[in-house]
Amino acid sequence: MTPLNVEALFNKLLDLVAKGSEEQEMRSSNLFVKFGSWRGIRRIIFIMGLLALLLSISTLSKFYSLPSFLTPDNFCNRINPVDQETNGNETRIIIETVIQKIHEEMKEMSASSAESSDVRYVSFLADILGLIESVQASVSPIEGTHPLFKPTQQSDEPGNYFLMEEIRKYVKMKPNRLGKQNFMGANGTFTSIGHACFSMKPELEKYMDYDVGDICEDDWKLAQKLIVHGCDPLPRRRCFSVAPKFYTKPFPINESMWKLPDDRNVRWNQYRCKNFSCLASNNTKKGFFKCADCFNLVHHETPRWIKPVYVDLISNQTADFLIPEVLGIKPEEIRIGLDFSVGTGTFAARMREFNVTVVTATINLGAPFSEMISLRGLIPLYLTINQRLPFFDNTLDLIHTTRFLDGWIDSLLLDFVLFDWDRILRPGGLLWIDSFFCLKEDLQDFLESFKMLRYKKHKWVIVPKLDKDEKEVFFSAILEKPYRPFR
Ligand SMILES: *[C@@H]1O[C@H](CO)[C@@H](O)[C@H](O)[C@H]1NC(C)=O
Ligand SMILES: *[C@@H]1O[C@H](CO)[C@@H](O)[C@H](O)[C@H]1NC(C)=O
Ligand SMILES: *[C@@H]1O[C@H](CO)[C@@H](O)[C@H](O)[C@H]1NC(C)=O
Ligand SMILES: *[C@@H]1O[C@H](CO)[C@@H](O)[C@H](O)[C@H]1NC(C)=O
Ligand SMILES: *[C@@H]1O[C@H](CO)[C@@H](O)[C@H](O)[C@H]1NC(C)=O
Ligand SMILES: *[C@@H]1O[C@H](CO)[C@@H](O)[C@H](O)[C@H]1NC(C)=O
Ligand SMILES: *[C@@H]1O[C@H](CO)[C@@H](O)[C@H](O)[C@H]1NC(C)=O
Repeated sequence: MTPLNVEALFNKLLDLVAKGSEEQEMRSSNLFVKFGSWRGIRRIIFIMGLLALLLSISTLSKFYSLPSFLTPDNFCNRINPVDQETNGNETRIIIETVIQKIHEEMKEMSASSAESSDVRYVSFLADILGLIESVQASVSPIEGTHPLFKPTQQSDEPGNYFLMEEIRKYVKMKPNRLGKQNFMGANGTFTSIGHACFSMKPELEKYMDYDVGDICEDDWKLAQKLIVHGCDPLPRRRCFSVAPKFYTKPFPINESMWKLPDDRNVRWNQYRCKNFSCLASNNTKKGFFKCADCFNLVHHETPRWIKPVYVDLISNQTADFLIPEVLGIKPEEIRIGLDFSVGTGTFAARMREFNVTVVTATINLGAPFSEMISLRGLIPLYLTINQRLPFFDNTLDLIHTTRFLDGWIDSLLLDFVLFDWDRILRPGGLLWIDSFFCLKEDLQDFLESFKMLRYKKHKWVIVPKLDKDEKEVFFSAILEKPYRPFR
């Protein structure tokens, strides 16, 4: 609703009430003379009260510019955001009071006799009610209902769902300065947040509660919780993120790859372990269980993808493929790739030795995985499984995945993930499924999903997994994306 509309509505309302009360005054004086009725007097008082309430709304809206509260505006023409928030609240409360009072009055009228003057009075009240409710609809943030589920809601301003000014400002479309299309062919910039943010309103508002230009809280964990639950993209913030207190420069690249980083380069306060030696130890209480040994660079990580680590003693089979044999499938062709796994970047570190650049997707699941990867001199891509991968179609030579998509994953989700991987793999690119494990009885379903891709099979093994009552199996494969020259 535009500012003009609101003002026009208020004027109409004031007119209506003024006319109504005049009419009532005239009529009720007659009534008074005729019947000595008390009702007329009550009506005058009621309408006067209504008039006073409406006046206070319109005053508020004029003085504190209600219209600009409705449409979050730019930085320059606002005086005080806090005042405005409060007055928006007051306006809403007053409007709610008016509506409630009118409802009460109408109920009372319809309960009592059906005189013709009463009928007119009720229809007069209904008129006012309609107008006021349309004002209310434009003022209230819609509580409880998702704005995208309300087709009548003006969905160009979903930010109105949030009370916090900083979120509204972030979500609002930013028009280009010169009023023309920008070089990207858009009339403005459309900053967005994930739709799941709407169901996590308190958390998001807590996250966005900061002073502009100040240091942010050390709340990466809240941010990660929001992202993992689908509030992704998360809004940007205008505060400075906290850095480790005594940050020291990372080790030189010829040392950093296989050495535990300096403890001072990590903010430890949200983790159970408070240093890298704790993460690398055999301590069982580290605060995470997936890839619990991945920080143990010497014992656990060194042989991975260079020597088979897991070999089934009975069949003498292994689910571990080695990097040289995989690269040997396509000599000199595999140059760039994505590692979608849980780990500390060892796969990327090894691939670097083979002149392959690999970025490692990771989140900080109970340990500083991102920091570890970057301090080793590799690229951590901070990203959850919720998201479409930030790569263009047909661009990567290799996708490697291990210890991430296991038996827990929903098969529909697995489908979406696999198709997204297919999208970013180039024709002739390799998908390396590394020690995917699941229950024996589920294996067939998962294999169907992988087969659905119709990739060329270079390697394909299924090996029993012996640690959990022999109920689980490992599955590994090297698959090649086909050329698809025909539509
Ligand atoms: C607005 O009103 C709600 C209750 O209706 C209250 O919880 C909230 O704190 C108020 N906000 C302001 C800024 O006064
Ligand atoms: C962008 O602006 C141009 C001219 O100002 C207008 O014709 C066009 O409809 C606008 N596009 C969108 C998507 O709003
Ligand atoms: C790393 O390189 C620097 C200079 O290039 C050298 O002084 C240092 O000994 C090297 N470290 C190792 C572990 O090779
Ligand atoms: C690492 O942290 C553990 C407790 O988490 C502590 O016992 C140990 O002394 C620390 N080691 C170093 C080198 O700070
Ligand atoms: C951790 O335990 C394994 C056996 O479970 C052992 O081989 C390894 O040496 C231990 N590592 C450390 C750092 O103590
Ligand atoms: C297991 O297989 C490897 C080759 O894949 C072979 O070198 C080795 O001798 C085999 N071991 C046994 C015990 O059969
Ligand atoms: C990687 O590239 C360097 C320099 O280009 C070359 O010397 C080295 O042999 C390459 N390594 C492999 C494994 O191809």
